[in-house]
Amino acid sequence: MKPSEETRLRVAQLRQELHDHNHRYYVLAEPVISDREFDELLAELARLEEENPELHDATSPTQRVGGDLTDRFEKVAHRAPMLSLSNTYNEEEVEAWVQRIQSSLPDNEVEFVMELKYDGVAISLWYEEGKLVRALTRGDGTQGEDVRANVATIRSVPLQLREGAPKRLEIRGEIYFPWPAFEALNAQRRESGEAEFANPRNTAAGTLKLQDSKLVAARPLDCTLYNVDEEVAQSLGITGHLEAVQQASAWGFRIPEGRRIEVANTVAEIMAFVRHWDEARRGLDFAIDGIVIKVNHYDLRQELGMTAKSPRWAIAYKFETEQAVTRLNDIVFQVGRTGAITPVAELEPVLLNGTMVKRASLHNADQIAKLGVQRGDDVLVEKGGEIIPKIVGVASEERGLGGLFAPEPFQFPSTCPECDSQLVRAEGEAQHYCPNALSCPPQVKGRIEHFIGRKAMNIDGLGEETVSQLVEAGLVRNPVDLYALTAQQLLPLERMAQKSVDNLLKGLEASKQIPFERVLFALGIRHVGETVAKKLAHALGSMQAFKAITREELLAIDEVGPVIADQVVTQFADPAFLMQVEGLERAGLNMVVEKATALSQALEGEVVVVSGVFQSLSRDEAKQLVGQHGGRLASSISSKTTIVWAGDNMGPSKRQKAEALGIPIMDEAGMLARINSGG
Ligand code: IVH
Repeated sequence: MKPSEETRLRVAQLRQELHDHNHRYYVLAEPVISDREFDELLAELARLEEENPELHDATSPTQRVGGDLTDRFEKVAHRAPMLSLSNTYNEEEVEAWVQRIQSSLPDNEVEFVMELKYDGVAISLWYEEGKLVRALTRGDGTQGEDVRANVATIRSVPLQLREGAPKRLEIRGEIYFPWPAFEALNAQRRESGEAEFANPRNTAAGTLKLQDSKLVAARPLDCTLYNVDEEVAQSLGITGHLEAVQQASAWGFRIPEGRRIEVANTVAEIMAFVRHWDEARRGLDFAIDGIVIKVNHYDLRQELGMTAKSPRWAIAYKFETEQAVTRLNDIVFQVGRTGAITPVAELEPVLLNGTMVKRASLHNADQIAKLGVQRGDDVLVEKGGEIIPKIVGVASEERGLGGLFAPEPFQFPSTCPECDSQLVRAEGEAQHYCPNALSCPPQVKGRIEHFIGRKAMNIDGLGEETVSQLVEAGLVRNPVDLYALTAQQLLPLERMAQKSVDNLLKGLEASKQIPFERVLFALGIRHVGETVAKKLAHALGSMQAFKAITREELLAIDEVGPVIADQVVTQFADPAFLMQVEGLERAGLNMVVEKATALSQALEGEVVVVSGVFQSLSRDEAKQLVGQHGGRLASSISSKTTIVWAGDNMGPSKRQKAEALGIPIMDEAGMLARINSGG
C-alpha cells in the first residue's frame, strides 16, 4: 500500500525534528528534550518506516548511530564502530530482552554483568607500547575526534600502563564531571557574572572540546572504563567482560568496585541491582542515568551479534527522571531579546537531582493550559538531562488554600510586562511576542548583549552591566549606536574611568575585523544561530546578497529549511532592520566573506549538489571541500545547479533530473582533480 500524504508529512517532520535534536545533543551539547522523549520520537519514526518501506532513506535519523563532527580536532576512524545501546524502562522490557537472548542461545546458561550507566561522554583510549596515544570521542560512531591532550589532564586516565599490559590496547569508557567539582565551577561562574552551566554531562562534553588543555586541566573531570578491546582480551585467554575489567585494574585502570559491578543469571537478580541503584544513586558524587546490562561471555556475544545501531548483547535500563512536588508560588513573565514572552514558574525551593530548584519554565500559554496549573497549586517538577527544570503536572488540586479564598484561573497577560505594549501571537505560533522591538528595554538590552557576545562581535571592555548603563542613559538603543559612542559621553558614567573608556573604544574598533559570518550571527535573527549564520554567510558571500535573496533561493541552500528561509526573508524586508544593517555597514563592519579564508577559488561561481557515497571521503567532507574551494552547496538539483558531484549509488531520479537540465555530472575523481588543479 502506498503511504498516505499524512504519513509522508509525519515522517518528514520526525526526521527533521530528530536531526535537529541530534545536532543539539551531539554538536551543540544543548539538548532541549529528554532522552526518553527522543527515544519515543525515534521509535515512532522507525515504526512508520518499517510499515512503509517506500519511504526508506539512507540519511534518516534511524540509520545512524550518533551525531556530526566539529572540525577542530584530528578525525580518526574508530577501530570498531562506537555503538549505542537500546533502552528499556521497566521490568517487562528487561524480561523480554532476557528471554530473547535465552531463546537465541538455548544450550547455554547466560551470565549477565550489570554496571552503572555513567552520564557523561564516551571515550575510546588507544594505547601503544603502554602509552596513551589517542583519545577519540564518539563523533558519528565511525569516526571520532582525537582529544588526547584534553583527556591526558584527567587523573584517572593512565598515560602509561603498568608492566605486563598488552602492547596494543583499546579501552572504552565514560568521561564525566563529578557533582562537587561541577557545583564549585558554577559557584565560581556565578561570582564572576558568567552564565552557569546547565548540567554535568553537557559541561563534560564542552570541556573535552576546549582548544586550550590548560583550561581543561582546571576542571577536574573523571573517567571510568566500561569496555576492554575484546580481541586483545581474547588473545590473553580472557573469556568474558568481568574478567577483562578485573585484568584492566592490573594494567593501571581504575575499575568499578563493590556493588558497582555484579553478575546475575536471572531477571530477579538484575532487577535487584537496578532497584538498589535507583535509590543509592542519590549518594553517588557523579550522575548516572541508568544501569547497563551486558552478556558476560565473549563467545555468546559473538553469537548474538549486533544491529546497525547497537549490540544485541547489551541493553540500558534508564531510570525515571527524578521528580519532586512543590508549591507554585507565582507565574512571572520574562521578555527575551526577540520579544518572546516566556512564562516562568516561581517555586517553593525544592531539592532535585542534587540541586535546589526555585524556578521552572512553563514555555507558553498552551503549555500552561495543557497542564492546567494555577498559582498556589502543588506541582510536579522534573529535571532530567535538560537545562531548565520543568513542570510536568499538577500534584494536588486543592485550590485556594482549602477554600480560604477563591482560586483564580490563570490568564495570560495581554500586555508586555516591561513596556505595556499589546502582545501579539502569530497564527500557528505557540509564543506570544512583544512587538515593541525598538524600545522595549529587555529586548534592546538583550539584542545588544547578544551582539557583543563572545561568539558574535566579542567586544572587549563591554559587559552586561555597561550595556544596562548605556541603555538606561539613553546613549544606546541598537548596535549601531555603539559605534558612535565617544569618550565625552562615556566618561561621566559611573565606574567609567579613562582606562575602561579606552578599552571599550578599542574593543569596538577591533570588532570591525570580525568576519562577516559572525556579524551575521550578531544581528540576532531568529533561527540563525552560529552554525546557520556560517552556512548562510558562505553560501551568499555578502550582506548585499541577503537583501535580494528569495525564499526559493534560500531553500536551495544545503540544510536551510522553510523556517529559516521565511525568517531571513521577513527580516530583510523589515525597514528598521535594514536601517540597522546599513548603519553597521557605514560603521565599517565586515559585510563580505573574506576570500582569504578559502583554500582556493577552484569552484568559484559553481552551485554544487553532492550526492551518493564516495570512496576516499565522507559526504560531509565532500561538502566541506566544496565550501573551502569557493563553491556554493545546494541540497537539491534545480536550474540554478551548475555541477552535480556524484559518488556511487546516486539515485536514478536525481541523475535523470540533472541530465534533463543539462547539468554536468562529475564523478569523485574528476571533481577532486578539478579542486586540486586550483581552477
Ligand atoms: S557499554 C556497544 N557500559 O552509554 C555499546 N556504556 O547508550 C557499549 N555508557 O555510548 C556501551 N556507562 O557512552 C556501556 N557501563 C557502561 C556505560 C556506558 C555509560 C554510555 C556509553 C554509550 C552509551 C550507550
